Amino acid sequence: MNQRVNIYGFPHKGLRNALGKLSFNLGKLDVSSEEQIQEIKLLSNEVSELLKLHLHSEEKHVLVPLKEKDPKIADHNHEDHLKMERLEDQMMFSIHQLIDSPDIGIAIKSYQETNLFIREYFRHMDEEENEINEIIWSHFSDEEILEWQGKILSELTPDQFFSWFKYIIPALHPLEQSIMLGGFKQNAPDEVYQGTIHGLKPFITEQQFEYISNI
Ligand SMILES: [Fe+2]
Repeated sequence: MNQRVNIYGFPHKGLRNALGKLSFNLGKLDVSSEEQIQEIKLLSNEVSELLKLHLHSEEKHVLVPLKEKDPKIADHNHEDHLKMERLEDQMMFSIHQLIDSPDIGIAIKSYQETNLFIREYFRHMDEEENEINEIIWSHFSDEEILEWQGKILSELTPDQFFSWFKYIIPALHPLEQSIMLGGFKQNAPDEVYQGTIHGLKPFITEQQFEYISNI
């Protein structure tokens, strides 16, 4: 069986990585460490930005065409997005409280809200990668799905692109890394490409750095 284009594959791997990090860092947080609080602030803001970007690009570039073919499933996915937004707001509200007044009680609450978000969001992503993909594949060709992907990528600023790379690249297996970075290498000026590879060094293993430096 030929493998179909999975519009969700790469961003979902990146989001699982980023959310796992957020939960891990909140779980071990020393509330007296200003440095760790600042790390939580940067990480949670970045996770929140990626979640919003991802949700809006799905709404605009996946659900609009899907609704024409299968309004019921598109409406269901849209309703689920609204639920994810509410849970994300709840998670970010407690994390902002923690950043403003670090305290063990609020740290525990932020950890729990984050894990509740992860529980629901991982379920949501799994549904998209399975049930929703089956419906997408029954109505659209790989070329059409790649066109959606192209539109999504073309709307990202260079900073947003790099934020995605930071979480996606370490979460991919080597073949996927060559697909993603190979495409980027073809389309970006050489100094931008080399700068990006170098910038990724702190976020990946030595072995991964060695591999992606030779793509
Ligand atoms: Fe989604």
